[in-house]
Amino acid sequence: MQKWALEMKRAGIPVALVPTMGALHQGHYSLIRSARRTVGEQGVIVVSIYINPMQFGACEDLTSYPRNLKEDLAGCRREGVDLVFAPRDKAMYANCPGQAHSTVVIESDISRTMEGASRPEHFKGVTTVVCKLFMLTLPEFAVFGAKDYQQAAVIRRMAGNLNIPVKISVAPTVREKDGLAMSSRNIHLKPIQRQQAKVLHESIQEARKLLHGHQKHEINVRQLKKNIEKHIQRYDEARLDYLEFFDPNTFKTRNMIRTGTHMALAVYFGKTRLIDNGRL
Ligand code: PAJ
Repeated sequence: MQKWALEMKRAGIPVALVPTMGALHQGHYSLIRSARRTVGEQGVIVVSIYINPMQFGACEDLTSYPRNLKEDLAGCRREGVDLVFAPRDKAMYANCPGQAHSTVVIESDISRTMEGASRPEHFKGVTTVVCKLFMLTLPEFAVFGAKDYQQAAVIRRMAGNLNIPVKISVAPTVREKDGLAMSSRNIHLKPIQRQQAKVLHESIQEARKLLHGHQKHEINVRQLKKNIEKHIQRYDEARLDYLEFFDPNTFKTRNMIRTGTHMALAVYFGKTRLIDNGRL
């Protein structure tokens, strides 16, 4: 991978990387199209497909995470992807024979809340693997999805802090007709859970409605949280994990919610955990 990337670099051909864990859906394909617009016809697009064990907690869904390499490869071919990098665990984490993989990358500010609080080791795994993918594919550009808003911000912070010369862009969240954000994990939902999963996007819409119906377009966080929690309780399959309102740049939580505040939430349906977010 790195040899090919170095050849591209020497030839002056720009590389755009789209990192994924596979089971590709329209959300992923929209990132690939965005990468093509960024890099142009002369540039090349690398899609990485790698289910990174380091970012899954001990009790999480690593073994049941959907895998579909054959279809993913066909999809990438259809979308005009130039190269798919699908390494095995051994190639990623046992690449120095006889030596342990004992180096990690940790962002220690904006990765602490929300996903970082619910999944303690998660972002360490994400930043470490994305850093490795950057070193392996030497991209000028990398595209991430707004569906994982905090992840994109953590990676951007890592690249800035560590002087990694990759321009990071974030593409909008692609949704199903009822508003549910597309996700590889959606296939785990039972029909009744799938019906109720629209509650995540609905909650964001509801928050927008409440805010804009309010005087001065300002609302107390406790009041807003109470309203949204009540809305989620109407769905008996949904179990709220977290609901946060924060500054979209600093990730600091806010007491007064205004236009421009960012909202994010995670909701369990059985064992399946879904996330969504949006700007109010
Ligand atoms: P994965 O969940 O496969 O997502 C890969 C990329 O697709 C991420 O940038 C994610 O934000 C984006 N994406 C997923 N669903 C989307 C949707 N509905 N609309 C727009 N973009 C969407 O995120 C990961 O993998 C991993 O953590 C990874 C970055 C690859 C590191 O292992």
